Amino acid sequence: VGPLVLKAQNVLLKKHLQRQASRLGLRFDELIDSSQKAPQMLVAELEQPGVLEEISAWKEKWPECFVVLSVTEPDKELWIAAETAGADLVANRGALPRLVHDRLKLLQQGRMLVKKKVLEKAKPVMNQGDGLIGRLPDSTEDPIAVFKWKDKVCAVRDICPHAGFSLADGAFDPENGTITCPEHGSRFQVCSGERLRGPADYPLKKYRAFENGGEITVEIEQDG
Ligand code: FES
Repeated sequence: VGPLVLKAQNVLLKKHLQRQASRLGLRFDELIDSSQKAPQMLVAELEQPGVLEEISAWKEKWPECFVVLSVTEPDKELWIAAETAGADLVANRGALPRLVHDRLKLLQQGRMLVKKKVLEKAKPVMNQGDGLIGRLPDSTEDPIAVFKWKDKVCAVRDICPHAGFSLADGAFDPENGTITCPEHGSRFQVCSGERLRGPADYPLKKYRAFENGGEITVEIEQDG
């Protein structure tokens, strides 16, 4: 098993995680030596300031590293923001050490923890210029909307983080590539997922999407 990194502040959490790791003859390091092998697991806390930016940079550098975040608030949209940033597992602080133990065991058995990606076909939407070009209402994940903006094909979760309405039919602004929620006006950039205006508090989960000869596909994580 490669390096395991623990970036948590909570003393109890750290203690429980180290205990679970040591049951398997493993241990977490608190610092990563960049000359080392790529880390196989990172555990951090969602409440730490800047953690979402940090894990998204981390995932860019080490896409195969399994990223675990502990949370203390049962806020679904905050969890989704964590997954959007690249977290592979988000769990309550109390349940986390046990779940990490199970994942470490799988790592020891040589199993891959990061889910495989598959391409799913979107239903095309007639559109001449920029804007909505496809939808995956029944994707194996959540519903997804696909947009074209300045020759880029961008896909986002089609659920407004404010109150769960669909965004696909909201007003699209071709100037900035933004979609405005038809219900209460939250606004998002469709390629970055960034939230530009509330009342929604969080950005949109984004997906990699492709258009090839009129066929639109979206990359989705495969379960199991
Ligand atoms: S549901 Fe989108 S802003 Fe309220």
